[in-house]
Amino acid sequence: MVEQATAFAPGRVNLIGEHTDYNGGLALPFAIRLGVTVRAARADSAVVVVHAADLGAHDTFELLSPRPVSGWRAFPRGAVAELRAAGVPLAGVRLEISGTVPQGSGLSSSAALEVALCLALLAVSDAPIPDPLPLARICSRIENEWVGAPTGLLDQLASICGERDRALLIDFGSLEVTPVPLVLPGHRLVTLDSGERHSHASGDAGYAARRAECERARDLLGVETLSQATEAAASRLPDPLRSRALHVIGENERVRQTVAALHDVDAPRVGELLDASHASLRDRFEVSTPAVEATVGLLRRAGAVGTRLIGGGFGGHVLGLLPTDAVAPDGAIEVRPESGASVA
Ligand code: GLA
Repeated sequence: MVEQATAFAPGRVNLIGEHTDYNGGLALPFAIRLGVTVRAARADSAVVVVHAADLGAHDTFELLSPRPVSGWRAFPRGAVAELRAAGVPLAGVRLEISGTVPQGSGLSSSAALEVALCLALLAVSDAPIPDPLPLARICSRIENEWVGAPTGLLDQLASICGERDRALLIDFGSLEVTPVPLVLPGHRLVTLDSGERHSHASGDAGYAARRAECERARDLLGVETLSQATEAAASRLPDPLRSRALHVIGENERVRQTVAALHDVDAPRVGELLDASHASLRDRFEVSTPAVEATVGLLRRAGAVGTRLIGGGFGGHVLGLLPTDAVAPDGAIEVRPESGASVA
């Protein structure tokens, strides 16, 4: 019987394919080195005690009936409730959370926390680890139902399925995940914080509003997902639905072209596609901000051959593809594809 377990789940960078996951489209994320660690120790009681080491904060709740709360406490409560709802026979447990991925900054600290919590709880309950897709769905329910952020499955799948030196081509229509080598000799990827924090929980209008607009566009076009719409049909929608739909359709095509450019090891072409994705997120999807644009400018002036905002937008980190000999701006973090979540 496992008495103690330590789980680690990474954050992610999305190379390209933004706001496509909840539209049945394509994305190309990879797991990174930064992430969240959860230590779990089985306890002989019907309570869960949680220590958030980085925040110096605690929570205690009933194993059988966690009540909803806001803030970080929603994550462990949601993890316990959703795993129990999925039929996992959880025992009383003490949890300690610590992390290296900055919160609310577009590197998926939320998904890393959800995945690490679930893996640690499963291990001390002697329960088998579900396959990636059902595990990602449980984690996503924590975010949707307990945290209140209506996000898709991109971040959780990237954190769970990450592979060293490979990005993951995720088709959200079929939910197929295909590793794609991400090696661009003479170049490196960095992210730079715009300094602006975001929250995708329902109180924050931006992300939820874009998602609702995509659903309206889909319904008007009479398709199952917006990714099935044609450019010609989308062009006839009234604005802003027209612009939102054209972003999604164009972004899917850019993901396909990025996979081809990676196959050809063509870094300048990858850079062009990153720039085109950013322009579409700024002008058609309207999720950029002055702080994000200033950060894009810093990376360009440092010599980036491509830059784009990553994640939902409205702040967070900006990705840059830099020639190896270019000097990255102060504070930039080098990122490369790493392995996905694990528990020991
Ligand atoms: C956030 C969400 C993801 C995805 C991206 C945009 O990171 O958590 O599900 O929608 O925004 O691509």
